[in-house]
Amino acid sequence: MVITEKYGEIIGYYLFDNFSETSDLKENRQIIAKLKIKGLILSEKISFRAQAVVEKQYQKSGLSKLMLSMLLEQTKGKYDLLFSIVMKNNPKLIAHLSSGWEIIGEDIDKVYVGYSLL
Ligand SMILES: CC(C)(COP(=O)(O)OP(=O)(O)OC[C@H]1O[C@@H](n2cnc3c(N)ncnc32)[C@H](O)[C@@H]1OP(=O)(O)O)[C@@H](O)C(=O)NCCC(=O)NCCS
Repeated sequence: MVITEKYGEIIGYYLFDNFSETSDLKENRQIIAKLKIKGLILSEKISFRAQAVVEKQYQKSGLSKLMLSMLLEQTKGKYDLLFSIVMKNNPKLIAHLSSGWEIIGEDIDKVYVGYSLL
């Protein structure tokens, strides 16, 4: 996880999560398994979920891109693929796609996105 602080206040974070036992993460694992069967995911070293949040007033200033690059530096060699799910109605989907994430699948209301590290 990378956290950005300004004057002692947290204004943003970016994390990779392979550890939670939440239903969310179980769903991600199931979807990844299905995408593997379809041949849409070939990697074995997968980060099952990424999350990013930047305080509204600091958005669009390159912070999430910077935190992602720092996180990738810290986790070098650990993953071949980052995976995440974004709601189709999330207006920030475009920010992920501009940061290097690619759409690898979808269902009714969600898109499955991947960030290849190979
Ligand atoms: C998604 C989010 C983390 C992006 O953070 P950010 O610091 O604003 O992103 P950046 O400034 O690093 O921008 C990354 C790229 O996305 C683009 N971008 C960012 N916000 C955008 C917007 N609203 N519309 C279009 N493009 C946008 C930037 O221009 C940049 O692309 P570029 O390098 O080609 O110019 C932030 O908007 C956020 O916290 N949203 C609310 C929480 C959320 O929806 N998280 C995602 C679900 S996990």
